[in-house]
Amino acid sequence: MPLVTTDRILAERRVAAAFNVIQLEHAEAIVAGAESAASPVVLQISENAAKYHGALAPIALASRRIAETANIDVALHLDHAESEALVREALRLGFTSVMFDAATSPYDENVSRTAQMVAEAHEHGAWVEAELGEIGGKDGAHAPGVRTDPDEAVAFVEATGVDALAVAVGSSHAMTSRDAALDLDLIASLREAVPVPLVLHGSSGVADADIRRAIDAGMRKINVSTHLNSIMTAAVRDALASNERLVDPRKYLAPGRDAVAREVTRLCEVIS
Ligand code: G3H
Ligand code: ZN
Repeated sequence: MPLVTTDRILAERRVAAAFNVIQLEHAEAIVAGAESAASPVVLQISENAAKYHGALAPIALASRRIAETANIDVALHLDHAESEALVREALRLGFTSVMFDAATSPYDENVSRTAQMVAEAHEHGAWVEAELGEIGGKDGAHAPGVRTDPDEAVAFVEATGVDALAVAVGSSHAMTSRDAALDLDLIASLREAVPVPLVLHGSSGVADADIRRAIDAGMRKINVSTHLNSIMTAAVRDALASNERLVDPRKYLAPGRDAVAREVTRLCEVIS
């Protein structure tokens, strides 16, 4: 099936499930898991993942090929890109959406840099997610205690022309426990005020029931990364512990990949 944009997925269903790719096995597992759930899915590659590989193209082109041969709709999304050059490269590589993250810039600079990326991405037919500047801590807006102000969000969307907005509503990146307390009233207020889809980052820390509540309150894209890594690593650890003579990576990565695929299937059913 062809690659699709995230708005195409959102035209078909009320919420998009988005999972991060680090290794090739993640892309394989995420697509296999989503196919089992008969759910469209967003494959996300972050700037940090590209840095880990030393370049965006190898992991991006492999993910794109996996996406193009899937039997479900798949969007290929650049996640948390702080560099304009990386966004431009992603657009050339065929990404169908990008998150431009100038959140650490002062507000006016965030607006002008984001608006420029929106104009260029739209020329490529790509969908753009962004977030408001700020706010304390290395995690920008996605830290406990940080909240997006609805009026500022409305002004930011209007000034930049973004297609979706990541909002701070109580989740936090890289949690390994699923006990974040979301501000559901704020999600509802943001949904009421902001004219574009809202994105929940740091969803690994959010329990299934709260993910459902967040969707009911107005979240339209749910980003999950760390949780899948925990699951992959536990399966790899078990495989290695069960046979200390194991040396072939396929023998321990395959159980990790299978475990991620099963969890993606389950999460696609939660995120629906
Ligand atoms: O952009 C990606 C996500 O916000 C993932 O966050 O690793 O806490 O699930 P997470
Ligand atoms: Zn994020």
